[in-house]
Amino acid sequence: MRPLSLFGQGSHCFFTLDWMNDTTAFSPGPVLGLETSCDETAAAVIDADGSVLANVVASQHAVHERFGGVVPELASRAHVEMIERVVVAALEESKLSWQSLSGIAVTQGPGLAGALIVGVNYAKTLAYMLHLPLVGVSHLDAHIASAWLEDPNFPRPSIVLVVSGGHTHLYRKDTDGATQLGCTRDDAAGEAFDKGAQMLGLGFPGGPALDRLAQSGNPSAIPFPKTSLRRGSLEFSFSGLKTALLYKVQGMGEDELARRKADLAAGYQEAIVTVLVDKALLAVQQTGVRALAVVGGVSANSRLRVLVQERAAALKVPVSIPPMRFCTDNAAMVAAAGRTALAAGHRMAIDAEPFTTLEPALATIQPG
Ligand code: KG4
Ligand code: ZN
Repeated sequence: MRPLSLFGQGSHCFFTLDWMNDTTAFSPGPVLGLETSCDETAAAVIDADGSVLANVVASQHAVHERFGGVVPELASRAHVEMIERVVVAALEESKLSWQSLSGIAVTQGPGLAGALIVGVNYAKTLAYMLHLPLVGVSHLDAHIASAWLEDPNFPRPSIVLVVSGGHTHLYRKDTDGATQLGCTRDDAAGEAFDKGAQMLGLGFPGGPALDRLAQSGNPSAIPFPKTSLRRGSLEFSFSGLKTALLYKVQGMGEDELARRKADLAAGYQEAIVTVLVDKALLAVQQTGVRALAVVGGVSANSRLRVLVQERAAALKVPVSIPPMRFCTDNAAMVAAAGRTALAAGHRMAIDAEPFTTLEPALATIQPG
C-alpha cells in the first residue's frame, strides 16, 4: 500500500473524514470486496454491471490443518501477512487501476474478532487513501448475494438457504432486503460435517473430505435420524445426528470401522442434506415463493447439489446454486452485496467496529 505521506498529509495528519459518510459519493463503477471473517483472505472486483472481474482467495487450510480446526490467533496473523498481496493480485487480475474503483466493501461480521479487524482496518485505510466510499457487509448478506452473481435475473423473491460452517439459516430474499424464516437450534450444517469428519478421522477441513468419502459409500446401509423437530417447523437441529454417529463409531471395532467408514459417511451426509432440502422446500411451500437458492460453504457438497436440483425440478421450482468458487468464502459475494448497499446509501463510519455475532447485524436482513 502507498504511504499516507504520498497524499500530502506530512507528519501532522488532520483527517477530515466526513466524506466517508457522504451518501452521495458513490458513482456506479467497479467495487473492490474484502473478506477476512474466518480462514480465507479474499479480495475481488466486480464491475458496474455486477460481473466478476477478479476473484482471489488465499486459503489458510495449511495453517490450521495440524490443529484440526481454525485457531483464531493464527488466522489473524495469516490475514495480516496475506491481505496486501491478495488485494494487489485482485486488482491486477481485474486489469484496473486503483483510481478506477468506485467503492470498497468489507465483511464487518459475523466472524472471528481478530480476523475481522484485519480486513476492516485495511479497508478503512484503503478507502481513506483512495477517497472512496466504504461499506461494511454482513457475511450472511454476502453469501445470499452469491446466488445472483452468475445470473442477476434469477427471481426475487426467492427462498435462500444459507449453509456454512457457522450458520444454517433460511431467508426470504426480496429486492430490498431479507427476512429470516428459520435457523438451527444447535450446530450449523457445516459444523455437523466438520465434527462428523473428525469422528471418522478425516482431518480438516472435514466437509470436503466427508463428501469425497461418501461417494464410495451406500447411504442406506446404516440408518441415521433425520431430525425435523415439530411438524411444519423451519428450524434445524443436528446435535442428535452427531451423537448418533458418535455411538455408531464407538460401537464398531477398528476393522469394522475401516470397512464401513464410507457407508457411515454416506448415511450421515444423506441425513444432513435430506433435512436441508426438506426444510428449504417446506419454506417454498409455506411462503408460496417459487424460487430457491442454496448458498454458503456446504452448498459445495456434491450430494446436496444433486438432491436439491432433483427435488426442486420435480416441483418445477427454479434453483440457484453458485459455482464452487462462490460457495465457500470469497470476496466476490462481498463486493456484490456491497455494491447494492453502496448504491442504497449505506456507509461504514470511520470508527465502526467489526461485529462477531449476527445480533447487531444488518442493514438489510430483518429477523423473522
Ligand atoms: O461459507 P464457508 O466457506 O465458511 C463459513 O462461513 O463458515 O463454509 C465452510 C463450511 C465448512 O464447515 C466446510 O466443511 C463446509 O463449508 N464445506 C462442505 C463442503 N465444502 C465446504 N461441507 C460439505 N461438503 C462439501 N463439499
Ligand atoms: Zn461463509
